[in-house]
Amino acid sequence: MTLDYRFPAIEDLRKHARRRIPHYMWEYFDSATGDESAWHRSETALDAVTLMPAVLAGDAPAELETAFLGQTYSAPIGIGPVGMSGAVWPDAERLLARTGAAQRIPYAMSTVSVATPEEIGPHLGDMGWYQLYAPASGEMRRDIFARVRDAGFHTLVFTVDVPDLSWREREKRVGLKNPMPITPRILWQTALRPTYARGMLGRPVPRPRLFDKYIHHSATAAGDKHVGLTLRTAPDWDYFLRLRDEWDGPLVVKGVLEPASAARLKADGADAVWVSNHGGRQFSAAPAPIMSLPGIREIVGPDYPLIYDGAIRSGTDVLRAIAMGADFVFLGRAFHYGLGAAGADGAAHVLRLLTEVMKLDMSQLGITRPAQARTRLATTKPM
Ligand SMILES: Cc1cc2nc3c(=O)[nH]c(=O)nc-3n(C[C@H](O)[C@H](O)[C@H](O)COP(=O)(O)O)c2cc1C
Repeated sequence: MTLDYRFPAIEDLRKHARRRIPHYMWEYFDSATGDESAWHRSETALDAVTLMPAVLAGDAPAELETAFLGQTYSAPIGIGPVGMSGAVWPDAERLLARTGAAQRIPYAMSTVSVATPEEIGPHLGDMGWYQLYAPASGEMRRDIFARVRDAGFHTLVFTVDVPDLSWREREKRVGLKNPMPITPRILWQTALRPTYARGMLGRPVPRPRLFDKYIHHSATAAGDKHVGLTLRTAPDWDYFLRLRDEWDGPLVVKGVLEPASAARLKADGADAVWVSNHGGRQFSAAPAPIMSLPGIREIVGPDYPLIYDGAIRSGTDVLRAIAMGADFVFLGRAFHYGLGAAGADGAAHVLRLLTEVMKLDMSQLGITRPAQARTRLATTKPM
């Protein structure tokens, strides 16, 4: 397969994507908050997890199919929510929904997507998860729930690690604001990326279009604030309990790093906890999520569903996360590196790179199911 030789690693897709995505958009997408130490910490801590190979384990074919939250997926891997995805790459939400449906992996669509849930619904198959940033108004929340249900999303991901904006230095250096100003510099940087520019032709200026329906509800929608942000609130525990009552499908809470919070969420009715520091995009001092996993696993018990994300860049990393206590992993940036480098084929190639290496690694570990990686954990700290 030629993509295997052009892009043998996710890092190869990243380098190529960087040459095809306009610079200002790259700085939004492939960055983190502050000095980016939380992002780097996530990578370093994940690299430090080692797994013990097994010898003389015989021939044991790897099986990646995974049952999770009432659904069966082809692998314990999902496409994570990325806000303004359709501005990072033209039509990204539709392309990723179709990748999810074709490959049988979940696609978690962000609240602040460029496309609406109604536009993406027909492409989801039964792989649709929907990520929610808390809208201030209960009425709006219930309306969004009805819309995403009707569109075919079955699992709700409630993100709780964004009580406010974060200070993203690289975004400021390239002059990114919300809404995005159309300046000569932005137009010039777009023109330098012809595939991207052609893909954007004829599309509306990217904005989180879910909210178009509600704009009249918000007195603050005008001005220089992103409309999606003006309409959302910093939720508390009561908000979570109300939301739990209103959403009758599987409910996942994303952005948890502390064992006590995970235990309380489990007790209060969350069906799964998603351990994440938001790709290092919210808080520079946040712990590496991989280091939070064992403590959270211990407190919630062996059978409670746990998701991990953060700096996964290979099939080996997927097994590292599972060994540390995750049942399922998601990737945010990597699927967009795939889109940027090679369009829809590139997104599918990301999954192929992950699963091919997982299978080879599982043979090294002498295991047949990813979950058995938990029995092969060797070290978790830099040696
Ligand atoms: C550009 C960008 C936008 C994101 N937007 C959202 C979002 O709208 N909602 C959300 O829950 N997480 C969002 N995230 C966080 C991702 O879902 C995920 O937690 C993170 O990217 C995982 O790290 P990784 O990119 O190293 O895989 C975003 C991440 C990136 C890079």
